Amino acid sequence: MTTTLIDGIGLLYTGDPEREEIPGAALVLEDGLVAWAGPAAQAPDADERVDVEGRAVIPGYVDSHAHLIFAGDRTAEFQARMSGRPYTGGGIRTTVAATRQAGDAELATRALGLVNEMLAQGTTTVEIKSGYGLSVEDERRSLEIATGLTDETTFLGAHVVPADMDADSYVRLVAGEMLEACAPYAKWVDVFCERGAFDGDQTREILGAGLKAGLGARVHANQLGEGPGVRIACELGAASADHCTHLTPADVEALASSDTVATLLPGAEFSTRSPYPDARRLIDAGVTVALATDCNPGSSYTSSMAFCVALAVREMGMTPLEAIRAATYGGARALRRTDVGWLRRGARADLVVLDAPSYVHLAYRPGVPLVHQVFQTGLLLEEDIQNHPSVVVL
Ligand code: NIG
Ligand code: FE
Repeated sequence: MTTTLIDGIGLLYTGDPEREEIPGAALVLEDGLVAWAGPAAQAPDADERVDVEGRAVIPGYVDSHAHLIFAGDRTAEFQARMSGRPYTGGGIRTTVAATRQAGDAELATRALGLVNEMLAQGTTTVEIKSGYGLSVEDERRSLEIATGLTDETTFLGAHVVPADMDADSYVRLVAGEMLEACAPYAKWVDVFCERGAFDGDQTREILGAGLKAGLGARVHANQLGEGPGVRIACELGAASADHCTHLTPADVEALASSDTVATLLPGAEFSTRSPYPDARRLIDAGVTVALATDCNPGSSYTSSMAFCVALAVREMGMTPLEAIRAATYGGARALRRTDVGWLRRGARADLVVLDAPSYVHLAYRPGVPLVHQVFQTGLLLEEDIQNHPSVVVL
């Protein structure tokens, strides 16, 4: 098996808590995995050598929260918000109508386009949710399409109650027939626990049914106001409570004393012109924090993890180190993955060579395309990668 030495790394951010930063570093890759990471002077021999000429290297981003199976567009809703209209989540139904009308090929092509967009920007692992179908067949096909793009698929039948149903019948459908049809294509179950979507009891019922069907739990929690979402996530051992924008002291305490990661989605606050979550408060309380894009056509139509890192540093009280950690290691924790999110022996050789001497530039030079090269081991197959000469498939 060929070994490749990535040499001349100005600063390696490993994501490995045992040795997070290595200046003057090198990596050896073998068979799609990291075989060695350390100071360049101690690097073992390899068959091939790539000199990155002083650039920084980070693990590929782990985007642990994205809604990529949809059709249509909500530009007008965004424009209205920028003229002062608040975000309520009501626009989800607009996307549901467009998604139901779209054929499988259109949905798959759009999602593949977004995954390509992500990969070119350094994301090598992405979670994809359903949630714009809201019928048994539309949720099922959304997830079937998602399984063609990632292993991290999430059943979000409980996104909102569709316009043509009452809440009780819909909860029964989601926890029954819809779950049964979707579970074969899903690793996770998620509920939008929020006023106007699903309340605490409904959330427990749906997550409980999902857990029983063998799925892991994650929750859209405390995005628009305080509520029971975070506490339910912690109680049920969910991998992640996502948004966490409006938290009581008891919510912070529950997160700190659980294994549930707090996944913060600053693209949503940016795009809905809302107050950002207080990452500082969570980190200081000992909570594991992840950053993700929440990429969706309504509340956060960005695929850029670098943009989220910059927002987290500027607006949420995170240091650049905490933000890159949350975008890599934190995302992997939120998906309960130990093979991605860090660059240490045995991990997948998913990495980004930055056109910068340090990961700090992600926040220091916001909006600047800093990806020089992406090495990836299977987010997309070579034949599915569209027009990105900077992506190396291992
Ligand atoms: O995570 N909050 C619920 N779901 C998405 C938004 C979906 C939409 O507005 O289309 C979110 O922000
Ligand atoms: Fe979301």
